[in-house]
Amino acid sequence: MSEFGNENPYKPVPVRLSRSWIETEDNNVKSFLFDFVNPEDAEKFEYLPGQFCQISIWGWGEAPFGIASSPVEGEQLLFSVNRIGTLTNRLHATADNEIIGLRGPLGNIYPVELFKDHDVVIVGGGYAFTTLRSLFLFLVDPANRDNYGKITVLYGARTPGLFLYRDELEAWSNYPNVEFVTTIDNPHPDWDGVVGLIPPVLKDIAPNSSNAFAIVCGPPIMIRFTLPILSELGFPEDRIYLSLEMRMKCGIGKCGRCNLGHKYICVDGPVFSMAELNGLVKDM
Ligand SMILES: Cc1cc2nc3c(=O)[nH]c(=O)nc-3n(C[C@H](O)[C@H](O)[C@H](O)COP(=O)(O)OP(=O)(O)OC[C@H]3O[C@@H](n4cnc5c(N)ncnc54)[C@H](O)[C@@H]3O)c2cc1C
Ligand code: FES
Repeated sequence: MSEFGNENPYKPVPVRLSRSWIETEDNNVKSFLFDFVNPEDAEKFEYLPGQFCQISIWGWGEAPFGIASSPVEGEQLLFSVNRIGTLTNRLHATADNEIIGLRGPLGNIYPVELFKDHDVVIVGGGYAFTTLRSLFLFLVDPANRDNYGKITVLYGARTPGLFLYRDELEAWSNYPNVEFVTTIDNPHPDWDGVVGLIPPVLKDIAPNSSNAFAIVCGPPIMIRFTLPILSELGFPEDRIYLSLEMRMKCGIGKCGRCNLGHKYICVDGPVFSMAELNGLVKDM
């Protein structure tokens, strides 16, 4: 028997689109809420923040998407998808009640066990906030909240209309012992909040690093300029986590499409600490 038991790991399970809505003003990011068609698939599907699924539409292909819902929210699964190519454009055209395919949960998780008794600093840019939404809601859930210290979130977008989950942001900033800062790149007539790129704003907020983990997700340029600031603030490499996005095929460590050094992003990641990543780059 294989490591997957009798199950065929390439076989998607059917999920039905409950509803979808446009997230961003430019119409490029849409969110999708799915229900499992078969209750036994729902029961088997146990996930934690940071994991992803392969979503497929017959005739259009399959691609990985981070799970934006949080396990504390129930059985429905949320994904937020940026429209860039064949599958994502087709996904944007999916009608309510249409049934599509899903494989997962795949990949590793944000190490929420390791984060226990620590402060958590979440830094997200643009539409990469998907699995960070899942993580944030997990940490502030009443069942988990006492396990974690102060939670700082810095979420940046180019313009006010490009934030994901705009209806939820205000409520999130009202949780106790949470500092939730949103920032946009340049002054905008509809915005009276913080203005500035993520790295300098992070420097201004200066979260205390002495007992904290940091998680960073966003475009490569943002990550490149944010990491030195975290170092400056005193975060060691083994307390900084990133979630990597790389082209994938099988999603289960079989095809060799997504390797980084001797690791496969799809099974050993997508979540890595900076210490692990630096080790991998040195190994290459
Ligand atoms: C672990 C993981 C989680 C992800 N989570 C999300 C998510 O939550 N929301 C979301 O919108 N996207 C996410 N992505 C990216 C998503 O998988 C790709 O955008 C998707 O594969 C594009 O499929 P497509 O058929 O529409 O594009 P294609 O038609 O295959 O490609 C269109 C263009 O995009 C480029 N491209 C495609 N995929 C990638 C990629 N992974 N990296 C860089 N360039 C690419 C192609 O080279 C081409 O230029 C994630 C990727 C990974 C690996
Ligand atoms: S996508 Fe096949 S090994 Fe990772």
